[in-house]
Amino acid sequence: MNGFRVAVLASGTGTNLQAILDRLHGRDGIEVVGVVSNKSEAQALERARAAAVETAIFERSRFADRAARDQAIGDWLGDRDVDLVVLAGYMELLADAFVRRFANRIVNVHPALLPAFPGLNAVGQALEHGVRLTGVTVHFVDEGVDSGPIILQQAIEVPYTRERSELEDEIHRVEHELLPRAIRLIAKGAVRVDDENPRLVHVDEEA
Ligand code: GRF
Repeated sequence: MNGFRVAVLASGTGTNLQAILDRLHGRDGIEVVGVVSNKSEAQALERARAAAVETAIFERSRFADRAARDQAIGDWLGDRDVDLVVLAGYMELLADAFVRRFANRIVNVHPALLPAFPGLNAVGQALEHGVRLTGVTVHFVDEGVDSGPIILQQAIEVPYTRERSELEDEIHRVEHELLPRAIRLIAKGAVRVDDENPRLVHVDEEA
């Protein structure tokens, strides 16, 4: 059996990648078969190497444009027969052609309760807005910015002090649970997009 083949795209520290490696990799038929970054210095790449997972770097400057770069990433993933592409702190938009090629096979983790506070600096946006509740969203990626169908969400209370680092720590803790849980559910075939309303995601069972 081929198993369920996951690739992770990450630009930064890679704590979400680490959670995936620790909780999913090599279990229940799930394999992380590759980690891709747009940044050669991303700590995520070191985490992948430490877990003996293949890595690749696609720096924007080495390609004519974003479409060409994303085509190359898509081909790399295609060569590895990837079932699911996970964006875990991947700080770039993906070309529409890439999103269509992997339709409903790309997930992203976002540090807010979408559709509130999409885009960059979601934690800062939430604090600036003065919300008392924020959270974490795992969603399928469509052509928009953090606009795809929502798979799982978890709310988090903003600390009374509104201290950013405290909120960020809690968001990370929740992300490290929620993202692996969503991937496990997808790998089990327990997640499907509604036939009539493509915004609705049905999660058929608890992991
Ligand atoms: C996470 O907060 C995620 O929600 C956002 O980028 C951050 C990545 O953190 N998209 P890490 O690199 O996984 O530590």
